[in-house]
Amino acid sequence: MDQHQLTTRAGAPVPDNQNIMTAGQHGPALLQDAWFLEKMAHFDREVIPERRMHAKGSGAYGTFKVTHDITPYTRAKLFAEVGKETPIFVRFSTVAGERGAADAERDIRGFAIKFYTEEGIWDLVGNNTPVFFLRDPMKFPDLNHAVKRDPHTNLRSADNNWDFWTLLPEALHQVTIVMSDRGLPKTYRHMNGFGSHTFSFISANHKRYWVKFHFKTAQGIQNLSDQEAGLLIGADRESHQRDLLESIARGEFPKWKFFVQIMDEEATASYPINPFDLTKVWPHADYPLIPVGEIELNRNPDNYFAEVEQAAFNPAHVVPGIGFSPDKMLQGRLFSYGDAQRYRLGVNHHQIPVNSPKCPYHAYHRDGAMRTDTNYGGAKSYEPNSFREWQEQPDFSEPPLKITGDAAHWNHREDEDYYSQPGALFRLMNPEQQQLLFNNTAASIGGAQKFIQIRHIRNCIKADLNYGKGVAASLGLSLEEVNNFEGYGMYKIS
Ligand code: HEM
Repeated sequence: MDQHQLTTRAGAPVPDNQNIMTAGQHGPALLQDAWFLEKMAHFDREVIPERRMHAKGSGAYGTFKVTHDITPYTRAKLFAEVGKETPIFVRFSTVAGERGAADAERDIRGFAIKFYTEEGIWDLVGNNTPVFFLRDPMKFPDLNHAVKRDPHTNLRSADNNWDFWTLLPEALHQVTIVMSDRGLPKTYRHMNGFGSHTFSFISANHKRYWVKFHFKTAQGIQNLSDQEAGLLIGADRESHQRDLLESIARGEFPKWKFFVQIMDEEATASYPINPFDLTKVWPHADYPLIPVGEIELNRNPDNYFAEVEQAAFNPAHVVPGIGFSPDKMLQGRLFSYGDAQRYRLGVNHHQIPVNSPKCPYHAYHRDGAMRTDTNYGGAKSYEPNSFREWQEQPDFSEPPLKITGDAAHWNHREDEDYYSQPGALFRLMNPEQQQLLFNNTAASIGGAQKFIQIRHIRNCIKADLNYGKGVAASLGLSLEEVNNFEGYGMYKIS
């Protein structure tokens, strides 16, 4: 048999793949056509659950290369020396659309990087924005229910979307970015990436630093207007996938410069901005970007399902020298991804080649559906044991983190300033960008009820009077009307 000849899953030759076996030329089908049954039964199970968010995506392999020394801050071996290279796999995505959604939609973009390091996998599961809508993971399922389809109409709903966003003051910063010119990137190559959360670095001498990760596109930022996107989607729903695939196939390898911002562990007490609040940035004037290296994407996956659809990124995957932080959102994510992937791909999804560490690993877990390796053969399956099996590695424990305070459901919305940073971002925009922000906002919120529009304008006014005025004007509302509107705060949707 040569490798192109068709066999059953069990390896037997398939003599006829055109005609079902029937009783007589015009008779009913026979149950003994085992190939037909195998083919149909497999087909019936081809679809796996899509990711709850970030369902539509594109992936590529590449390399991370160190260009600057950051070893004083982290012991992570992937940063050990200038010139060192680590293989990576990156998956970009849109967030709210389903697996078949058009690419060129106004939305956040996912920017997830899997570093196959010699000390295990580091997944940096970020976005193209430095902040997020929320700072408490309790609200994440609500966010998704608000931006996805309405349970009654099965349509995306401006009411649901904007009702939710405008009731959360902390969302305004991210909403401002998504409604700005950067809210609709032209391609995945023409946008920046961010780890967004504050993470930690642990140095060789056991000191902790807080760190944020940034990736700046070497292709330059390019965006689409809503009108351009509308036309593009009419001609090509897969514009991001096509662009990434074809540019890599042409040998035009996209690149991003990698930077970090570093904060001393002790500085958190005196810094006026809560460094663990995912709705806020650390201004570069306070914490400048420190260059680290470069990532390049240079190889397309051979098989989309095997390598991109089955890819599983998990913020809980860190390596020695990189750690978490008290950011509540990050803490919530540490549970959610592995849990979602055990449902979406199965308990042994780490064995899928795109997800497997490229270094030796020895992970204790046994059995489970679809175990395809040797399952650690006859090795003992308990610890402690007398045979030196499954030894923990205390040299890699992190320095203790000081925690104080009472256990409670702390309401972070009290006494917090959620308006200064969106206001500053608004004032950074030139008049043309500000006008785009007004128009994009009006186009998106225009389908929502008036009291929701007015609530948003009032939030914008708290950030900057001109921001609120501009959105109001684009919606054809006067400031007087905004001020005098009495339905503000109503929750009833007619
Ligand atoms: C995907 C949960 C916040 C970036 C996902 C998935 C889940 C999830 C369950 C699907 C995972 C899978 O099936 O493989 C959450 C929760 C969050 C949160 C509970 C907050 C509490 C964030 C934030 C970012 C982010 C803040 C970025 C900074 C991503 C990306 C993906 C993703 C990029 C797609 C990964 C891929 O390409 O496979 N999220 N998420 N998420 N999330 Fe989140």
